[in-house]
Amino acid sequence: MSILSGKNILLGITAGIAAYKTASLVRLFVKSGAHVKVVMTPASKDFITPLTLSTLSKNPVYSSFVNEDDDNAVWNSHVDLGLWADLFVIAPATANTLSKMANGGCDNLLLTTYLSAKCPVYFAPAMDLDMYKHQSTLHTFKVLNSYGNIMVPATSGELASGLVGEGRMAEPEDIVSFIENDILQKLPLKGKKVLITAGPTHEAIDPVRFIGNHSSGKMGFEIAKASANLGAEVILITGPTHQKIQHSLIQVIPVISASDMYNEVHKYFENSDIAILSAAVADYKPKEAASQKIKKNETTLTIELEKTKDILASLGAIKKNQFLVGFALETNDELENAKDKLKRKNLNLIVLNSLNDTGAGFKSDTNKVTFIDDEYTVTVFQLKSKADVANDLLNKILEQINA
Ligand code: CTP
Repeated sequence: MSILSGKNILLGITAGIAAYKTASLVRLFVKSGAHVKVVMTPASKDFITPLTLSTLSKNPVYSSFVNEDDDNAVWNSHVDLGLWADLFVIAPATANTLSKMANGGCDNLLLTTYLSAKCPVYFAPAMDLDMYKHQSTLHTFKVLNSYGNIMVPATSGELASGLVGEGRMAEPEDIVSFIENDILQKLPLKGKKVLITAGPTHEAIDPVRFIGNHSSGKMGFEIAKASANLGAEVILITGPTHQKIQHSLIQVIPVISASDMYNEVHKYFENSDIAILSAAVADYKPKEAASQKIKKNETTLTIELEKTKDILASLGAIKKNQFLVGFALETNDELENAKDKLKRKNLNLIVLNSLNDTGAGFKSDTNKVTFIDDEYTVTVFQLKSKADVANDLLNKILEQINA
């Protein structure tokens, strides 16, 4: 999955011959899973039609302050467009538009949107070789760079003038990978390894029966997704679950029992930076699993259980610099029990969910949690989707790590 998936990309097109390549650029953004809107300077419509771009982007194309096709003259809000965008990509970016961007010029919708946008701005210059090298252009690049705008450098090759040199807009594929790499490099968990446990465990009674619990694995899978979206390399060790996940940064390791989970977790813990143990691990397992199916010969059946190893506590006992997070599912004396677990298992953070809260805990898509950190600071959250809880958790971890 591309890092651009789900992002709102606003593509700004200015009047350079390379504008004809923006049809491919829109296609590539859409293919990567992004939502695309296009804003054009009026002159760029001589190089590519708004119809092509609106068909490919599946959105209206904007180029003037007022919607020309509407008798009731609707104002196209540059503020809304700027706020909608997670990324603003200006390609091709002509010397004229770049110079106006550097100097606060705003005589068209694209430029006013640029001035209103709060998101990262990428620009891919396209111009003749002498223009590209001109002192004033180099100065413009410097100014835009000082504003935090990111240049996708032009390449060398044959130019529209027939001359050969630097100034050709980077190819659409290269613009997309440039932006993807740039985003990945800047993600706050880039280079960090996150170990996550999820789901229930199944403890065999005989070849066809087990002791399990109602954990769906949703919370752990959302945490894995949120971690990967922040650039982390994720090892997701999960008990039996119906959850599915596909992400280039997530390696899924399926396990069945608490003992399998213990072994896999210990393979990866040493090299991890963060470990988040959200699995609902069975606390007890049958002392002996019968090798044959148990027949119903007797009126009662007694199965002797023994404790499983506490994976979280075992990590707390050996941790060096790892940031260790546990979960606590409680029904009574919630805060006291969670604080006790935090201390006893040597954690940096514990996520408490109470079975007394409706919409919290197993199976549901929502959760209501309280974070308690190692200084016993308590943060209470409202009922949220598990995806939002995962983001809150990652933000809290980042805050603690960077404190
Ligand atoms: N956990 C674990 N290994 C176990 C049991 C629990 O890693 N064998 C982890 C869970 O993933 C969770 C945390 O420990 O992060 C809390 O689990 P919980 O069952 O609520 O707490 P326990 O320590 O088992 O205490 P109790 O059952 O007495 O409440």
